[in-house]
Amino acid sequence: MDFKRYLITAALPYANGPVHIGHLAGCYLPADIYSRYQRAQKRDIKFVCGSDEHGVPITIRAMREGITPQDVVDKYNTIIKDSFEAMGISFDIYSRTSNKVHHETSQAFFTKLYNDGLFEERESEQYYDAEKDIFLADRYIIGTCPVCANPNAYGDQCEKCGSTLSPEQLINPRSALSNATPQKKMTKHWYFPLNKYEDWLKEWIVDGKKDEWKANVYGQCKSWIDSGLHPRAMTRDSTWGVPVPLPDAKGKVLYVWFDAPIGYISATKELTAQWSDYWCKEDTKLVHFIGKDNIVFHCIIFPAMLKAHGGFVLPENVPANEFLNIEGEKVSTSRNWAVWVDEYIKDFPDQQDALRYVLCANAPETKDNDFTWKDFQDKVNGELAATFGNFVNRAFVLMHKLCKGRVPAVHPDAVTEMDENLIKDIQAAKVKVENALESYKFREGLNEVMDLARKGNKYLQDNAPWSLAKTPELQAENQKRIDNCLHLCLQLSANLAILVNPFLPFTAKKMCYMMKVVDRMLEWEHAGKLDLLKVNYPLRAPEILFRKIEDAEVETQIEKLKSNLKKATAAMETKPTETTTAEAAAAAPADAPAKKAEITYDDFAKIDLRVGTIVKAEKVEKADKLLKLELDMGNNEMRTVVSGIAMHFNPDDIVGKQVTVVANLAPRKMRGIESNGMILMAQNADGKLIFTSPLETADNGSEVK
Ligand code: MF3
Ligand code: ZN
Repeated sequence: MDFKRYLITAALPYANGPVHIGHLAGCYLPADIYSRYQRAQKRDIKFVCGSDEHGVPITIRAMREGITPQDVVDKYNTIIKDSFEAMGISFDIYSRTSNKVHHETSQAFFTKLYNDGLFEERESEQYYDAEKDIFLADRYIIGTCPVCANPNAYGDQCEKCGSTLSPEQLINPRSALSNATPQKKMTKHWYFPLNKYEDWLKEWIVDGKKDEWKANVYGQCKSWIDSGLHPRAMTRDSTWGVPVPLPDAKGKVLYVWFDAPIGYISATKELTAQWSDYWCKEDTKLVHFIGKDNIVFHCIIFPAMLKAHGGFVLPENVPANEFLNIEGEKVSTSRNWAVWVDEYIKDFPDQQDALRYVLCANAPETKDNDFTWKDFQDKVNGELAATFGNFVNRAFVLMHKLCKGRVPAVHPDAVTEMDENLIKDIQAAKVKVENALESYKFREGLNEVMDLARKGNKYLQDNAPWSLAKTPELQAENQKRIDNCLHLCLQLSANLAILVNPFLPFTAKKMCYMMKVVDRMLEWEHAGKLDLLKVNYPLRAPEILFRKIEDAEVETQIEKLKSNLKKATAAMETKPTETTTAEAAAAAPADAPAKKAEITYDDFAKIDLRVGTIVKAEKVEKADKLLKLELDMGNNEMRTVVSGIAMHFNPDDIVGKQVTVVANLAPRKMRGIESNGMILMAQNADGKLIFTSPLETADNGSEVK
């Protein structure tokens, strides 16, 4: 399809804390690179984002800090917005879901589905704080962790030991609001029948997007769809959020994952009166940039909502990234193990492109990746400064020295094969970068740009114009070669500015200043051209494009990480901590898979459940989803079990784990391997799998009953 316009979205960050570099690498930087590239192509694009200002994490933060949710979102909306701006993330609009337009838009959306008779009303039991007369999300229930005895574990997770919990598991559970013991109470909610869209989703994603979407995205979607879709509650009992627009819904708000994605629509409305062109015309290319924890919401739930509503385009692609770890460890906002963007900007003013470079070169595009300060230093000093910066600098310095500060002429009678080859490289680079960016391969695109700079350096080294001008006599004799060489190096610099602009816009701007050209030169159609700088045109003296990062700076940052962690861990001992856990985990009513029919004890007793330990795990060839596991079942019994968890775990990471095994399941052949049993796993609402291991190590072979 020939697209007439692009609508590019980046996940709305929760306004309950600042953004860290993992957020940047995960979605904002790739979205920005893509948007800048499309703008340079002069395509009609809108790049929208804004703060996600509803949901439980925000109310929790407010409670902890003793301020109102509105105060929380006002504070962080500003911090986040400023961080993005400072990093050059070029949104056309950065809106907020607390805006009036957004409340109206999301309510109208809900009302349309309601009037169409789409929602199912269901009553369910939920935890309730009788003292405060308020329903409690799992996060609002605090108690002692059954695993590590942390007295301030949450009803969904213990942040000290990392265990996933449910409120029932807490010892001495209490309400975070009043300390009252939580009770259960009936409440009514409106469920979106996701199950009714299963066939459509299968057709649209499983049959339709297989070859286009990234493997990690497609894989998660497929595993969700394959495991069956269920109605999901789209409302919550809460005082913070978009009120449910129904007369019998006092104290109820829209589920944050219902309203937030509609925020993309509201933001577009706020941006332009032509918003419906971008949302409703078939020839719009809608692209959602997100992190991997948002996949199901953007690939399954929101598209189903759009489909149910009717009249909207659907995402053409959802290029989700994996996570960025810090110094080999997962980012944890509660343990303050993160590099915060606002702090980076304070510590490294004017070094935005250095960070953009490292985050893009290390982007977690196909797997989780690691950021370390040492690698940051190596990449900035050893690649950006030594290759890109050095080339441009040398070209300018030599031109000032050997060509009187002006763009030298080309002398056709002195053109060499090296010149011709470099010209071909420049033209090829344009095509390569373009192809990489069109297919969301940002690392590859950046690598192509750097490769061209490397070729420039080599060309300069091989031609060594300085040695052609060792004496005035020699220079006079060689001036034609010197001119040709530096002419080409300057045209290459101009090309590098165009190609690097989507990635490192601050650098491209500096280069334009040095070349005394206007920003329009950066338009993509100029890439590959060799007459970007006119002969005899005087250029400015070079500026240093990238300064070196000193050892001391790296050490300071590593110290900072460590001391932040120490402080946060110490604070955790004394009080419950902040949270940024995805709303998915904190959620309220029973979105849970539909309950199964009652069984008798005898039915249950037929199942032989036992504990085993994974001693070996390996991928099954040509089966993306399967792992072949060797289990130690105790009493010298080893078993082979084939398990469909390969999309979720690395084989090496699960060796040594204890698991609960259905030991008397009839043997079954999978891909030619006989599987003798099944391991039990829990699945979160976001599709994540969790081992159902015993909390303490049990003897292999012991019965579970
Ligand atoms: N606030 C969510 C998060 O940070 C993302 C919301 S994306 C939207 O995980 F589509 F819902 F807006
Ligand atoms: Zn714990």
